[in-house]
Amino acid sequence: MTSRAETLGIVGASGFIGRELARQASAAGWQVCGYTRKAKPPDAGVAEWREWNEVPDFNGISAVVNLAGEPINQRWTADAKRRFYDSRIGATGRIVRGLSMLGRSERPHVLVNASAVGIYGERGDEILEEGSPTGTGYLAELCQAWEDSADGVARLGPRVLKWRTGLVLGREGEAFKKMLLPFRLGLGGRLGSGKQWVPWIHVADLVGGILHGIGYGGVTGPVNGSAPEPERNEDFTRKLAAALQRPAALAVPEFALRWMMGDFASAMVASHRAVPRVLLESGYKFRFPTLEMALGDLVGKEQASLSREEPSPRG
Ligand SMILES: NC(=O)c1ccc[n+]([C@@H]2O[C@H](COP(=O)([O-])OP(=O)(O)OC[C@H]3O[C@@H](n4cnc5c(N)ncnc54)[C@H](OP(=O)(O)O)[C@@H]3O)[C@@H](O)[C@H]2O)c1
Repeated sequence: MTSRAETLGIVGASGFIGRELARQASAAGWQVCGYTRKAKPPDAGVAEWREWNEVPDFNGISAVVNLAGEPINQRWTADAKRRFYDSRIGATGRIVRGLSMLGRSERPHVLVNASAVGIYGERGDEILEEGSPTGTGYLAELCQAWEDSADGVARLGPRVLKWRTGLVLGREGEAFKKMLLPFRLGLGGRLGSGKQWVPWIHVADLVGGILHGIGYGGVTGPVNGSAPEPERNEDFTRKLAAALQRPAALAVPEFALRWMMGDFASAMVASHRAVPRVLLESGYKFRFPTLEMALGDLVGKEQASLSREEPSPRG
């Protein structure tokens, strides 16, 4: 609970993570102001919408979470790459301008700016904490520029958190929905070698961690937004198939992923063994620390009710 009716500004509040953040924040006592490029109808948890296409108006806002970003899970054409850049580095720059237009005492006290574990680049079995060096490759460089653009805010006073998000699991998440479909049909399987580490997180913990980071003044700089136990893709595959009670004997070779997804395939097989050291050391308690617990919540209950509905062999 916040001690007074403070207002949380969420840029990208209409997205998958933004909607869950708005719901959890308003349940915790925040007033939520959503920022969007196009006016939106009333939504659960969002008390007010402000349109922004240039510089956002942060009057009366205590803390800002920036979740804007063109989806990465598409073909990386030259046009798409321009949108990736403008919606991340360009948008963060406009947010810095919005903050600089307020007097120091009127500015929000914290900015949480989205980033991604992709900043570490391909790293095999290396354990990646927030202090680990960042990596190379297209996504790593995009994320580095994104984080650098948020540094302009620290000079203005607010505390800045750079939220290095992993693979977010939630019923409303596009990536998770796309992942479930082949598994439900019994066509699920590992991607590439299956040896790559997947830094997954349940959406409730991603959002819980962000609210914890806003409230806990000791958290600053990069924060890994992933669960304490990353899984290899082959183990993730096996556990997801078990939760759905379906086989997952197939494997999708990397060349087939490249043929279907172009350069985005490299992000699907990249290995990021990220661990949330900052969240754990600052006392955040994960609701879903293991993949079994997260999948039990997301697909287990539904699966149990489906099994109850199946007719018995005797009709
Ligand atoms: N979901 C994941 O697994 C994951 C993993 C790592 C990092 N992240 C990062 O976390 C952030 C939020 O993720 P999400 O899954 O909630 O994304 P999402 O559902 O796609 O929502 C992103 C929001 O960004 C705004 N947006 C989209 N395209 C934009 C553009 N071209 N220019 C400006 N704004 C744009 C949209 O808001 P309006 O249309 O209302 O303006 C949208 O609601 C993103 O930056 C994403 O890269 C997510």
